[in-house]
Amino acid sequence: MKNDPNCKFDVAKIRSDFPILSQKMNAKPLIYLDSAASTMKPRQVVESISDLYYGYYANIHRGVYLFSQISTEKYENARSVVKKYINAKYDEEIIFTRGATESINLIAHSYGRPNLKEGDEIIVTEMEHHANIVPWQQLCKETGAKLRYIPFDDKGELILEEYDKMVSNKTKIVSIVHISNSLGTINPVKYIFNKAKEVGAVTLLDASQSIQHVKVDVQELNCDFLAFSGHKIYGPTGIGILYGKLHLLEDMPPYQTGGDMIKSVSFERTLFADIPGRFEAGTQNIEGAIGLGAAIEYVSSIGLDEIAQYEHSLLEYANQKIREIPQVTIIGNAKQKASLISFLLEDIHPHDVGTIMDKLGIAVRTGQHCTEPTMKHFGITATTRASFAFYNTIDDINVFIEGIKQVIETFE
Ligand SMILES: Cc1ncc(COP(=O)(O)O)c(C=O)c1O
Repeated sequence: MKNDPNCKFDVAKIRSDFPILSQKMNAKPLIYLDSAASTMKPRQVVESISDLYYGYYANIHRGVYLFSQISTEKYENARSVVKKYINAKYDEEIIFTRGATESINLIAHSYGRPNLKEGDEIIVTEMEHHANIVPWQQLCKETGAKLRYIPFDDKGELILEEYDKMVSNKTKIVSIVHISNSLGTINPVKYIFNKAKEVGAVTLLDASQSIQHVKVDVQELNCDFLAFSGHKIYGPTGIGILYGKLHLLEDMPPYQTGGDMIKSVSFERTLFADIPGRFEAGTQNIEGAIGLGAAIEYVSSIGLDEIAQYEHSLLEYANQKIREIPQVTIIGNAKQKASLISFLLEDIHPHDVGTIMDKLGIAVRTGQHCTEPTMKHFGITATTRASFAFYNTIDDINVFIEGIKQVIETFE
């Protein structure tokens, strides 16, 4: 860290991989504090995509010619990179989707519909992103199953005693967010999933906000399914991952049908391909998958432990500084927290905060962050959220803190 001579993390070198961070926004140096919404892309990711388009692009899984074979190889290699990163057992357990939203919908459709019935229960948490609420709600409507949620306390920590009381042999799916995108809470996944396994429930981890910050090991976490989006981990938009245990995926019907997901088609019947092809209908997002592979290799080359440590130091610094401002109320004060801060500034509306910050070159997120039930818990409709990634600096935080002070002055 720049102001800390003991920190070995070379943030200047990392920033040089992200040309966009040297841009100006509204004629001010860009201070990008919205990585929880989407991360910026390093040169290595952009180049992996331009190499494909300029060098060897062709459709995959079809051509016998060289470029098609190289493109296929690179696409399949990206699958192996993801497998290794989350410590899955087999490449076939990795399905490319459009993002976390599609991954969760796929499970609700292809696992949920055939396996759930009236009286069954699905457990989520009160702090879910809408992407991990609405697909289950729809599934409950169709099957008669019931959606339940683990409440959290005012610090933003799950009340596990409530979960312990809730989980039963009616529980069929436990689908929880690893790190809350609006509170930053890191949830005790292992405890929750171990308990789910005691009653034979299937577990799904929404790793959208954790995959880029901490080690996510699907075997260690007792995870049957896992979902995340590429754009949150420095990869392209429009690509995501669904991980599923082999035996579960093998038993599941397709989510979408069409080309490339079949073994054979006649007008009388169709035989579906084995996994993962069965879940990848139509021409795939080839550049997305290759870009995601490059992003994960990039993150791995820095090291997740180093990233987690550095980001934690940013969080601690930001916390200390922001708490010196009496008008600030932090929403989400869990002990285990990732590098984001949601806050209120007395009665100044978060949209006004965001608009003034924008003029200062500071990109923060304002609104309900696709977590309306979380906002409801606190009796609010919106927060301002600053989220930090490994390319942020102490200087970024200093500018952000000055920005808050300026917002307050504007409304005095
Ligand atoms: C925790 C969490 N889950 C799911 C999603 C949905 O991701 P996407 O919109 O990329 O599908 C997000 C995105 O903000 C998120 O933060």
